[in-house]
Amino acid sequence: MSDPLIIFDTTLRDGEQSPGASMTLEEKIRIARMLEKMRVDVIEAGFPIASPGDFEAVRAVASAVKDSVVCGLARANLADIDRAAEAVAPANAARIHVFIATSPIHMRDKLRMPPDEVLAAATAAVKRARHHTDNVEFSPEDAGRSERDFLCRVLEAAIRAGAGTINIPDTVGYTMPAQFGNLIQELRERVPGADKVVWSAHCHDDLGVAVANSLAAVTAGARQVECTINGLGERAGNASLEEIVMAVRTRRDFFHCDTRIETRHIVAASRLVSTITGFAVQPNKAIVGANAFAHEAGIHQDGVIKSRETYEIMRAQDVGWDANRMVLGKHSGRNAFATRLRELGVEFEDDGELNEAFARFKELADKKHEIFDEDLQALVSEADHREDERLQLLSMQVQSSTEGAPLAKVTVTVNGERRSREASGNGQVDAVFRAIADIAGCESSLQLYSVNAITGGTDAQGEVTVRLERGGRIVNGHGADTDIVIASARAYLNAVNKLLSAPRRHPQTGGAI
Ligand code: KIV
Ligand code: ZN
Repeated sequence: MSDPLIIFDTTLRDGEQSPGASMTLEEKIRIARMLEKMRVDVIEAGFPIASPGDFEAVRAVASAVKDSVVCGLARANLADIDRAAEAVAPANAARIHVFIATSPIHMRDKLRMPPDEVLAAATAAVKRARHHTDNVEFSPEDAGRSERDFLCRVLEAAIRAGAGTINIPDTVGYTMPAQFGNLIQELRERVPGADKVVWSAHCHDDLGVAVANSLAAVTAGARQVECTINGLGERAGNASLEEIVMAVRTRRDFFHCDTRIETRHIVAASRLVSTITGFAVQPNKAIVGANAFAHEAGIHQDGVIKSRETYEIMRAQDVGWDANRMVLGKHSGRNAFATRLRELGVEFEDDGELNEAFARFKELADKKHEIFDEDLQALVSEADHREDERLQLLSMQVQSSTEGAPLAKVTVTVNGERRSREASGNGQVDAVFRAIADIAGCESSLQLYSVNAITGGTDAQGEVTVRLERGGRIVNGHGADTDIVIASARAYLNAVNKLLSAPRRHPQTGGAI
Protein backbone atom coordinates (compact mmCIF):
# COMPACT_ATOMS: atom_id res chain seq x y z
CA MET A 1 0.00 0.00 0.00
CA SER A 2 1.36 3.43 -0.87
CA ASP A 3 0.57 6.68 0.97
CA PRO A 4 -1.38 9.38 -0.86
CA LEU A 5 0.74 12.35 -1.92
CA ILE A 6 -1.29 15.56 -2.11
CA ILE A 7 -0.69 17.67 -5.21
CA PHE A 8 -1.12 21.39 -4.49
CA ASP A 9 -0.97 23.33 -7.74
CA THR A 10 -0.03 27.00 -7.54
CA THR A 11 0.13 27.84 -11.28
CA LEU A 12 -2.63 30.42 -10.80
CA ARG A 13 -0.88 32.09 -7.84
CA ASP A 14 2.92 31.62 -7.73
CA GLY A 15 2.97 30.82 -11.46
CA GLU A 16 1.11 34.03 -12.20
CA GLN A 17 3.62 36.02 -10.11
CA SER A 18 6.19 35.28 -12.80
CA PRO A 19 6.81 38.66 -14.53
CA GLY A 20 4.43 38.98 -17.44
CA ALA A 21 2.49 35.75 -16.80
CA SER A 22 -0.73 37.43 -15.68
CA MET A 23 -3.95 35.78 -16.85
CA THR A 24 -7.50 36.96 -17.37
CA LEU A 25 -10.34 35.64 -15.21
CA GLU A 26 -11.58 33.43 -18.07
CA GLU A 27 -8.10 32.02 -18.62
CA LYS A 28 -7.79 31.21 -14.93
CA ILE A 29 -11.08 29.36 -15.01
CA ARG A 30 -9.95 27.36 -18.04
CA ILE A 31 -6.72 26.36 -16.31
CA ALA A 32 -8.58 25.57 -13.06
CA ARG A 33 -11.00 23.29 -14.94
CA MET A 34 -8.06 21.49 -16.55
CA LEU A 35 -6.41 21.04 -13.12
CA GLU A 36 -9.66 19.67 -11.76
CA LYS A 37 -9.90 17.24 -14.69
CA MET A 38 -6.36 16.08 -13.85
CA ARG A 39 -7.57 15.49 -10.26
CA VAL A 40 -5.24 17.99 -8.63
CA ASP A 41 -6.06 17.91 -4.90
CA VAL A 42 -5.64 21.60 -4.09
CA ILE A 43 -5.73 24.56 -6.50
CA GLU A 44 -4.21 27.77 -5.16
CA ALA A 45 -6.28 30.22 -7.17
CA GLY A 46 -4.60 33.52 -6.25
CA PHE A 47 -3.93 36.24 -3.70
CA PRO A 48 -7.34 37.84 -3.23
CA ILE A 49 -6.22 41.08 -1.56
CA ALA A 50 -3.87 41.91 -4.48
CA SER A 51 -6.60 43.70 -6.45
CA PRO A 52 -10.36 43.54 -7.08
CA GLY A 53 -9.56 41.52 -10.25
CA ASP A 54 -7.60 38.94 -8.26
CA PHE A 55 -10.43 38.67 -5.73
CA GLU A 56 -12.99 38.12 -8.50
CA ALA A 57 -10.80 35.52 -10.19
CA VAL A 58 -10.38 33.48 -6.98
CA ARG A 59 -14.11 33.70 -6.36
CA ALA A 60 -14.88 32.60 -9.92
CA VAL A 61 -12.51 29.60 -9.64
CA ALA A 62 -14.06 28.72 -6.26
CA SER A 63 -17.50 28.73 -7.91
CA ALA A 64 -16.44 26.78 -11.03
CA VAL A 65 -14.40 23.99 -9.43
CA LYS A 66 -16.23 21.18 -7.66
CA ASP A 67 -13.75 18.36 -7.04
CA SER A 68 -10.55 20.09 -5.92
CA VAL A 69 -10.00 22.14 -2.78
CA VAL A 70 -9.71 25.83 -3.74
CA CYS A 71 -7.17 27.84 -1.78
CA GLY A 72 -6.55 31.58 -1.34
CA LEU A 73 -3.25 33.08 -0.16
CA ALA A 74 -3.07 35.63 2.66
CA ARG A 75 -0.29 37.44 4.51
CA ALA A 76 -0.45 37.16 8.28
CA ASN A 77 -2.87 40.03 8.84
CA LEU A 78 -6.60 40.19 9.40
CA ALA A 79 -7.52 42.12 6.26
CA ASP A 80 -5.76 39.63 3.97
CA ILE A 81 -7.25 36.63 5.74
CA ASP A 82 -10.82 37.95 5.75
CA ARG A 83 -10.55 38.84 2.06
CA ALA A 84 -9.18 35.37 1.22
CA ALA A 85 -12.01 33.76 3.21
CA GLU A 86 -14.60 35.79 1.30
CA ALA A 87 -13.02 34.86 -2.05
CA VAL A 88 -12.94 31.10 -1.44
CA ALA A 89 -16.36 31.01 0.27
CA PRO A 90 -18.26 29.62 -2.79
CA ALA A 91 -15.97 26.55 -2.98
CA ASN A 92 -17.23 23.07 -2.11
CA ALA A 93 -14.00 22.71 -0.15
CA ALA A 94 -11.92 25.78 0.69
CA ARG A 95 -8.50 26.38 2.23
CA ILE A 96 -6.79 29.53 3.50
CA HIS A 97 -3.01 29.63 3.13
CA VAL A 98 -1.35 32.04 5.57
CA PHE A 99 2.33 32.97 5.38
CA ILE A 100 4.90 35.12 7.14
CA ALA A 101 8.68 35.27 6.69
CA THR A 102 10.86 33.70 9.40
CA SER A 103 14.43 34.12 8.11
CA PRO A 104 16.61 36.74 9.84
CA ILE A 105 17.11 38.71 6.60
CA HIS A 106 13.38 38.81 5.76
CA MET A 107 12.29 39.68 9.33
CA ARG A 108 14.89 42.45 9.65
CA ASP A 109 14.92 43.99 6.16
CA LYS A 110 11.46 43.26 4.75
CA LEU A 111 9.04 42.95 7.66
CA ARG A 112 11.08 45.10 10.07
CA MET A 113 9.63 43.00 12.88
CA PRO A 114 11.51 41.32 15.76
CA PRO A 115 11.16 37.51 15.90
CA ASP A 116 8.71 37.53 18.82
CA GLU A 117 6.33 39.80 16.90
CA VAL A 118 6.55 37.46 13.90
CA LEU A 119 5.69 34.52 16.13
CA ALA A 120 2.71 36.39 17.60
CA ALA A 121 1.50 37.45 14.14
CA ALA A 122 1.74 33.86 12.83
CA THR A 123 -0.30 32.57 15.78
CA ALA A 124 -2.97 35.26 15.49
CA ALA A 125 -3.18 34.76 11.72
CA VAL A 126 -3.74 31.00 11.90
CA LYS A 127 -6.39 31.54 14.61
CA ARG A 128 -8.16 34.10 12.45
CA ALA A 129 -8.09 31.76 9.44
CA ARG A 130 -9.44 28.92 11.60
CA HIS A 131 -12.32 31.18 12.50
CA HIS A 132 -13.32 30.93 8.79
CA THR A 133 -12.44 27.31 7.95
CA ASP A 134 -11.00 24.08 9.37
CA ASN A 135 -8.65 23.82 6.42
CA VAL A 136 -5.72 26.14 7.15
CA GLU A 137 -2.19 25.95 5.79
CA PHE A 138 0.73 27.84 7.29
CA SER A 139 4.02 28.70 5.55
CA PRO A 140 7.15 30.21 7.16
CA GLU A 141 8.44 32.10 4.13
CA ASP A 142 12.18 31.63 3.41
CA ALA A 143 12.23 28.60 5.73
CA GLY A 144 15.33 27.37 3.88
CA ARG A 145 17.33 30.28 5.39
CA SER A 146 15.56 30.43 8.77
CA GLU A 147 17.19 29.53 12.11
CA ARG A 148 16.05 26.07 13.11
CA ASP A 149 15.17 26.80 16.77
CA PHE A 150 13.06 29.79 15.85
CA LEU A 151 11.44 27.92 12.96
CA CYS A 152 10.47 25.11 15.34
CA ARG A 153 8.90 27.62 17.78
CA VAL A 154 6.85 29.28 15.04
CA LEU A 155 5.65 25.97 13.61
CA GLU A 156 4.73 24.64 17.04
CA ALA A 157 2.64 27.81 17.61
CA ALA A 158 1.00 27.49 14.16
CA ILE A 159 0.05 23.87 14.83
CA ARG A 160 -1.35 24.76 18.28
CA ALA A 161 -3.36 27.58 16.67
CA GLY A 162 -4.97 25.07 14.31
CA ALA A 163 -2.96 24.77 11.07
CA GLY A 164 -3.54 21.36 9.48
CA THR A 165 -0.85 21.69 6.79
CA ILE A 166 2.65 23.00 7.42
CA ASN A 167 4.34 24.05 4.20
CA ILE A 168 8.10 24.57 4.10
CA PRO A 169 9.09 27.01 1.35
CA ASP A 170 12.57 27.27 -0.10
CA THR A 171 11.54 30.74 -1.27
CA VAL A 172 14.80 31.73 -2.95
CA GLY A 173 15.81 28.27 -4.20
CA TYR A 174 18.96 28.23 -2.03
CA THR A 175 18.80 24.87 -0.28
CA MET A 176 20.38 21.68 -1.67
CA PRO A 177 18.36 18.44 -1.85
CA ALA A 178 20.14 16.62 1.01
CA GLN A 179 19.76 19.73 3.22
CA PHE A 180 16.10 20.15 2.33
CA GLY A 181 15.35 16.49 3.09
CA ASN A 182 17.16 16.85 6.44
CA LEU A 183 15.21 20.01 7.21
CA ILE A 184 11.86 18.24 6.73
CA GLN A 185 13.09 15.25 8.74
CA GLU A 186 14.33 17.43 11.62
CA LEU A 187 11.12 19.49 11.75
CA ARG A 188 9.00 16.34 11.78
CA GLU A 189 11.09 15.00 14.67
CA ARG A 190 11.40 18.18 16.72
CA VAL A 191 8.17 20.16 16.39
CA PRO A 192 5.56 19.17 18.98
CA GLY A 193 2.36 18.14 17.21
CA ALA A 194 4.23 17.30 13.98
CA ASP A 195 2.42 13.96 13.69
CA LYS A 196 -0.98 15.70 13.54
CA VAL A 197 -0.30 17.74 10.40
CA VAL A 198 0.52 17.18 6.76
CA TRP A 199 4.04 18.35 5.88
CA SER A 200 4.44 20.06 2.55
CA ALA A 201 7.31 21.29 0.34
CA HIS A 202 7.33 24.46 -1.79
CA CYS A 203 10.56 24.79 -3.76
CA HIS A 204 11.85 27.36 -6.23
CA ASP A 205 14.25 26.50 -9.02
CA ASP A 206 16.96 29.19 -8.83
CA LEU A 207 19.73 26.57 -8.68
CA GLY A 208 17.82 24.04 -10.79
CA VAL A 209 16.97 21.73 -7.88
CA ALA A 210 13.31 22.53 -7.12
CA VAL A 211 12.07 19.09 -8.20
CA ALA A 212 15.01 17.31 -6.53
CA ASN A 213 14.32 19.25 -3.30
CA SER A 214 10.60 18.41 -3.43
CA LEU A 215 11.37 14.73 -3.95
CA ALA A 216 13.91 14.80 -1.08
CA ALA A 217 11.11 16.23 1.07
CA VAL A 218 8.80 13.39 0.02
CA THR A 219 11.48 10.86 0.97
CA ALA A 220 11.72 12.59 4.36
CA GLY A 221 7.98 12.25 4.94
CA ALA A 222 6.35 15.27 3.27
CA ARG A 223 2.94 14.24 1.96
CA GLN A 224 2.05 17.40 0.02
CA VAL A 225 4.06 19.01 -2.76
CA GLU A 226 3.42 22.51 -4.10
CA CYS A 227 4.16 22.82 -7.78
CA THR A 228 3.11 24.39 -11.08
CA ILE A 229 2.44 23.25 -14.63
CA ASN A 230 5.63 23.54 -16.73
CA GLY A 231 7.42 24.77 -13.58
CA LEU A 232 6.02 28.25 -14.23
CA GLY A 233 6.81 30.68 -11.41
CA GLU A 234 8.88 33.55 -10.11
CA ARG A 235 12.40 33.93 -11.52
CA ALA A 236 13.53 30.39 -12.47
CA GLY A 237 10.11 29.03 -11.51
CA ASN A 238 8.59 26.55 -9.07
CA ALA A 239 8.93 22.77 -8.97
CA SER A 240 7.22 21.29 -12.01
CA LEU A 241 4.03 19.32 -11.37
CA GLU A 242 4.53 16.92 -14.27
CA GLU A 243 8.07 16.00 -13.20
CA ILE A 244 7.10 15.34 -9.59
CA VAL A 245 3.99 13.35 -10.48
CA MET A 246 5.81 11.18 -13.02
CA ALA A 247 8.86 10.66 -10.78
CA VAL A 248 6.68 9.41 -7.95
CA ARG A 249 4.51 7.29 -10.29
CA THR A 250 7.44 5.78 -12.23
CA ARG A 251 9.46 5.14 -9.05
CA ARG A 252 6.66 4.04 -6.72
CA ASP A 253 9.05 1.31 -5.58
CA PHE A 254 11.33 4.05 -4.19
CA PHE A 255 8.89 6.68 -2.88
CA HIS A 256 6.20 4.40 -1.46
CA CYS A 257 3.54 6.99 -2.17
CA ASP A 258 1.46 8.08 -5.17
CA THR A 259 -0.77 10.88 -6.37
CA ARG A 260 -4.29 10.59 -7.77
CA ILE A 261 -3.36 12.64 -10.87
CA GLU A 262 -4.83 11.50 -14.22
CA THR A 263 -1.52 11.73 -16.01
CA ARG A 264 -2.99 11.42 -19.53
CA HIS A 265 -4.07 15.10 -19.28
CA ILE A 266 -0.55 16.34 -18.51
CA VAL A 267 0.47 17.33 -22.06
CA ALA A 268 -2.83 19.13 -22.68
CA ALA A 269 -2.41 21.06 -19.41
CA SER A 270 1.14 21.99 -20.35
CA ARG A 271 0.03 23.30 -23.75
CA LEU A 272 -2.85 25.23 -22.24
CA VAL A 273 -0.61 27.03 -19.74
CA SER A 274 2.01 27.72 -22.38
CA THR A 275 -0.56 29.15 -24.84
CA ILE A 276 -2.19 31.33 -22.20
CA THR A 277 1.02 32.74 -20.72
CA GLY A 278 3.14 32.77 -23.88
CA PHE A 279 5.92 30.96 -21.96
CA ALA A 280 7.14 28.36 -24.44
CA VAL A 281 8.18 24.91 -23.22
CA GLN A 282 11.79 24.05 -24.08
CA PRO A 283 12.00 21.01 -26.41
CA ASN A 284 14.20 19.03 -24.02
CA LYS A 285 12.01 19.65 -20.95
CA ALA A 286 11.25 16.39 -19.11
CA ILE A 287 7.78 14.89 -19.73
CA VAL A 288 6.24 17.78 -21.71
CA GLY A 289 9.08 18.93 -24.02
CA ALA A 290 8.62 18.07 -27.71
CA ASN A 291 11.72 15.82 -27.57
CA ALA A 292 10.91 14.14 -24.24
CA PHE A 293 9.90 10.90 -25.97
CA ALA A 294 11.66 11.35 -29.32
CA HIS A 295 14.45 8.90 -30.09
CA GLU A 296 16.93 10.62 -32.36
CA ALA A 297 20.00 8.44 -32.21
CA GLY A 298 19.88 5.40 -34.50
CA ILE A 299 21.04 3.05 -31.76
CA HIS A 300 18.21 4.19 -29.49
CA GLN A 301 15.62 3.75 -32.24
CA ASP A 302 16.84 0.25 -32.91
CA GLY A 303 16.62 -0.59 -29.19
CA VAL A 304 13.17 0.94 -28.81
CA ILE A 305 11.83 -1.00 -31.80
CA LYS A 306 13.12 -4.31 -30.35
CA SER A 307 11.93 -3.55 -26.83
CA ARG A 308 10.53 -0.22 -25.67
CA GLU A 309 11.93 -0.61 -22.15
CA THR A 310 15.53 -0.51 -23.40
CA TYR A 311 15.43 3.29 -23.48
CA GLU A 312 11.97 4.35 -22.31
CA ILE A 313 11.02 4.39 -18.64
CA MET A 314 7.56 5.88 -19.23
CA ARG A 315 4.99 5.57 -22.01
CA ALA A 316 4.34 8.70 -24.05
CA GLN A 317 0.61 7.95 -24.12
CA ASP A 318 0.46 7.82 -20.30
CA VAL A 319 1.14 11.55 -20.18
CA GLY A 320 -1.12 12.31 -23.12
CA TRP A 321 1.31 12.60 -26.03
CA ASP A 322 -0.80 10.74 -28.50
CA ALA A 323 -4.17 11.38 -26.93
CA ASN A 324 -6.85 11.50 -29.62
CA ARG A 325 -7.00 15.07 -30.78
CA MET A 326 -10.06 15.96 -32.73
CA VAL A 327 -9.18 18.05 -35.76
CA LEU A 328 -11.71 20.60 -36.96
CA GLY A 329 -11.81 22.29 -40.36
CA LYS A 330 -13.84 24.66 -42.47
CA HIS A 331 -16.69 22.15 -42.83
CA SER A 332 -17.06 21.61 -39.07
CA GLY A 333 -20.35 22.81 -37.68
CA ARG A 334 -21.17 25.04 -34.72
CA ASN A 335 -22.07 22.03 -32.62
CA ALA A 336 -18.76 20.22 -33.13
CA PHE A 337 -16.95 23.49 -32.40
CA ALA A 338 -18.90 24.17 -29.17
CA THR A 339 -18.54 20.54 -28.01
CA ARG A 340 -14.78 20.53 -28.47
CA LEU A 341 -14.40 23.83 -26.66
CA ARG A 342 -16.54 22.54 -23.78
CA GLU A 343 -14.22 19.54 -23.54
CA LEU A 344 -11.32 22.01 -23.34
CA GLY A 345 -13.01 23.78 -20.42
CA VAL A 346 -14.44 26.76 -22.35
CA GLU A 347 -18.09 27.58 -21.61
CA PHE A 348 -19.98 30.34 -23.45
CA GLU A 349 -22.27 32.60 -21.49
CA ASP A 350 -24.86 32.81 -24.26
CA ASP A 351 -25.51 32.07 -27.93
CA GLY A 352 -24.22 35.50 -28.95
CA GLU A 353 -20.79 34.75 -27.47
CA LEU A 354 -20.73 31.30 -29.13
CA ASN A 355 -21.69 32.80 -32.50
CA GLU A 356 -18.90 35.39 -32.30
CA ALA A 357 -16.34 32.71 -31.46
CA PHE A 358 -17.67 30.49 -34.26
CA ALA A 359 -17.33 33.36 -36.77
CA ARG A 360 -13.66 33.78 -35.73
CA PHE A 361 -13.18 30.03 -36.08
CA LYS A 362 -14.56 30.13 -39.64
CA GLU A 363 -12.22 33.02 -40.52
CA LEU A 364 -9.28 30.98 -39.23
CA ALA A 365 -10.46 27.82 -41.03
CA ASP A 366 -10.40 29.77 -44.32
CA LYS A 367 -6.69 30.41 -43.82
CA LYS A 368 -5.72 27.16 -42.16
CA HIS A 369 -6.67 23.67 -43.28
CA GLU A 370 -6.71 21.78 -39.99
CA ILE A 371 -7.61 23.39 -36.67
CA PHE A 372 -6.10 21.70 -33.61
CA ASP A 373 -6.87 22.12 -29.91
CA GLU A 374 -3.96 24.56 -29.56
CA ASP A 375 -5.48 26.73 -32.32
CA LEU A 376 -8.80 26.78 -30.48
CA GLN A 377 -7.12 27.70 -27.20
CA ALA A 378 -5.27 30.56 -28.91
CA LEU A 379 -8.46 31.74 -30.62
CA VAL A 380 -10.33 31.92 -27.31
CA SER A 381 -7.41 33.62 -25.52
CA GLU A 382 -7.21 36.25 -28.26
CA ALA A 383 -10.86 37.07 -27.75
CA ASP A 384 -10.48 37.15 -23.94
CA HIS A 385 -7.67 39.65 -24.23
CA ARG A 386 -9.41 41.87 -26.71
CA GLU A 387 -12.73 42.09 -24.88
CA ASP A 388 -11.86 44.77 -22.31
CA GLU A 389 -8.86 46.36 -23.97
CA ARG A 390 -8.74 50.15 -24.28
CA LEU A 391 -6.65 49.99 -27.44
CA GLN A 392 -7.83 47.63 -30.16
CA LEU A 393 -6.38 46.93 -33.58
CA LEU A 394 -8.69 48.01 -36.37
CA SER A 395 -6.50 47.64 -39.45
CA MET A 396 -2.91 47.71 -40.63
CA GLN A 397 -0.88 47.80 -43.84
CA VAL A 398 2.84 47.12 -44.03
CA GLN A 399 5.27 47.47 -46.92
CA SER A 400 8.76 46.13 -47.37
CA SER A 401 11.11 46.87 -50.23
CA THR A 402 14.76 46.30 -51.09
CA GLU A 403 15.07 50.05 -51.70
CA GLY A 404 14.24 51.59 -48.32
CA ALA A 405 12.99 51.16 -44.77
CA PRO A 406 9.76 49.21 -44.21
CA LEU A 407 6.66 51.31 -43.62
CA ALA A 408 3.62 50.58 -41.50
CA LYS A 409 0.24 52.27 -41.24
CA VAL A 410 -1.72 51.17 -38.20
CA THR A 411 -5.25 52.13 -37.17
CA VAL A 412 -6.28 51.51 -33.58
CA THR A 413 -9.35 52.43 -31.58
CA VAL A 414 -8.55 54.11 -28.26
CA ASN A 415 -11.58 53.91 -25.98
CA GLY A 416 -13.65 53.55 -29.16
CA GLU A 417 -12.05 56.52 -30.97
CA ARG A 418 -10.17 55.82 -34.25
CA ARG A 419 -6.50 56.85 -34.51
CA SER A 420 -4.03 56.15 -37.33
CA ARG A 421 -0.27 56.59 -37.51
CA GLU A 422 2.45 55.80 -40.02
CA ALA A 423 5.97 54.83 -39.03
CA SER A 424 9.09 53.35 -40.54
CA GLY A 425 11.45 50.98 -38.79
CA ASN A 426 14.28 48.49 -39.12
CA GLY A 427 11.83 45.80 -40.15
CA GLN A 428 8.07 45.42 -40.56
CA VAL A 429 7.55 44.47 -36.91
CA ASP A 430 9.66 47.40 -35.69
CA ALA A 431 7.67 49.81 -37.88
CA VAL A 432 4.35 48.46 -36.54
CA PHE A 433 5.54 48.75 -32.92
CA ARG A 434 6.66 52.34 -33.48
CA ALA A 435 3.29 53.30 -34.97
CA ILE A 436 1.40 51.71 -32.04
CA ALA A 437 3.70 53.29 -29.42
CA ASP A 438 3.06 56.67 -31.02
CA ILE A 439 -0.72 56.19 -30.89
CA ALA A 440 -0.64 54.93 -27.30
CA GLY A 441 1.73 57.67 -26.09
CA CYS A 442 3.12 55.06 -23.75
CA GLU A 443 6.93 55.00 -23.36
CA SER A 444 8.29 51.56 -22.59
CA SER A 445 11.28 49.40 -23.38
CA LEU A 446 11.00 46.17 -25.33
CA GLN A 447 12.61 43.38 -23.32
CA LEU A 448 11.62 40.32 -25.28
CA TYR A 449 10.10 39.47 -28.63
CA SER A 450 9.51 35.83 -29.51
CA VAL A 451 7.60 33.94 -32.19
CA ASN A 452 6.46 30.33 -31.92
CA ALA A 453 4.49 28.19 -34.31
CA ILE A 454 1.42 26.96 -32.40
CA THR A 455 1.23 23.77 -34.46
CA GLY A 456 3.24 22.30 -37.34
CA GLY A 457 3.01 23.22 -41.04
CA THR A 458 3.60 26.42 -42.99
CA ASP A 459 -0.01 27.53 -42.47
CA ALA A 460 0.45 27.32 -38.66
CA GLN A 461 -0.58 30.26 -36.52
CA GLY A 462 2.35 32.26 -35.20
CA GLU A 463 2.11 32.98 -31.50
CA VAL A 464 4.01 36.11 -30.54
CA THR A 465 5.06 37.18 -27.06
CA VAL A 466 6.17 40.75 -26.39
CA ARG A 467 7.60 41.79 -23.02
CA LEU A 468 7.58 45.50 -22.15
CA GLU A 469 9.04 47.30 -19.15
CA ARG A 470 8.04 50.68 -17.78
CA GLY A 471 9.15 52.11 -14.42
CA GLY A 472 10.14 48.65 -13.14
CA ARG A 473 6.82 47.05 -14.08
CA ILE A 474 7.07 44.17 -16.54
CA VAL A 475 4.18 42.88 -18.63
CA ASN A 476 3.88 40.25 -21.35
CA GLY A 477 1.54 40.59 -24.31
CA HIS A 478 0.43 37.75 -26.57
CA GLY A 479 -1.04 37.61 -30.03
CA ALA A 480 -1.77 34.84 -32.49
CA ASP A 481 -2.48 34.92 -36.21
CA THR A 482 -1.49 33.04 -39.34
CA ASP A 483 0.32 36.29 -40.31
CA ILE A 484 3.12 36.90 -37.80
CA VAL A 485 3.25 40.68 -38.36
CA ILE A 486 -0.44 40.91 -37.39
CA ALA A 487 0.23 38.55 -34.45
CA SER A 488 3.08 40.88 -33.41
CA ALA A 489 0.82 43.94 -33.55
CA ARG A 490 -1.78 42.18 -31.39
CA ALA A 491 0.88 41.07 -28.90
CA TYR A 492 2.32 44.59 -28.64
CA LEU A 493 -1.15 46.08 -28.14
CA ASN A 494 -1.96 43.46 -25.51
CA ALA A 495 1.20 44.43 -23.59
CA VAL A 496 0.51 48.18 -23.90
CA ASN A 497 -3.05 47.64 -22.63
CA LYS A 498 -1.64 45.83 -19.60
CA LEU A 499 0.80 48.68 -18.91
CA LEU A 500 -2.10 51.12 -19.00
CA SER A 501 -4.17 49.04 -16.54
CA ALA A 502 -3.96 49.30 -12.74
CA PRO A 503 -1.07 47.30 -11.25
CA ARG A 504 -1.62 44.47 -8.75
CA ARG A 505 0.34 43.91 -5.54
CA HIS A 506 2.94 41.17 -5.29
CA PRO A 507 2.19 39.22 -2.08
CA GLN A 508 5.81 38.76 -1.03
CA THR A 509 7.69 41.85 -2.19
CA GLY A 510 4.77 44.31 -2.08
CA GLY A 511 5.84 45.65 -5.53
CA ALA A 512 3.56 46.31 -8.50
CA ILE A 513 3.01 43.46 -10.98
O1 KIV B 1 7.95 30.98 -2.20
C1 KIV B 1 7.29 31.24 -1.19
O2 KIV B 1 7.80 31.39 -0.07
C2 KIV B 1 5.85 31.40 -1.36
C3 KIV B 1 5.04 31.50 -0.12
C4 KIV B 1 3.99 32.54 -0.22
C5 KIV B 1 4.50 30.15 0.23
O3 KIV B 1 5.36 31.39 -2.46
ZN1 ZN C 1 6.77 30.54 -3.95
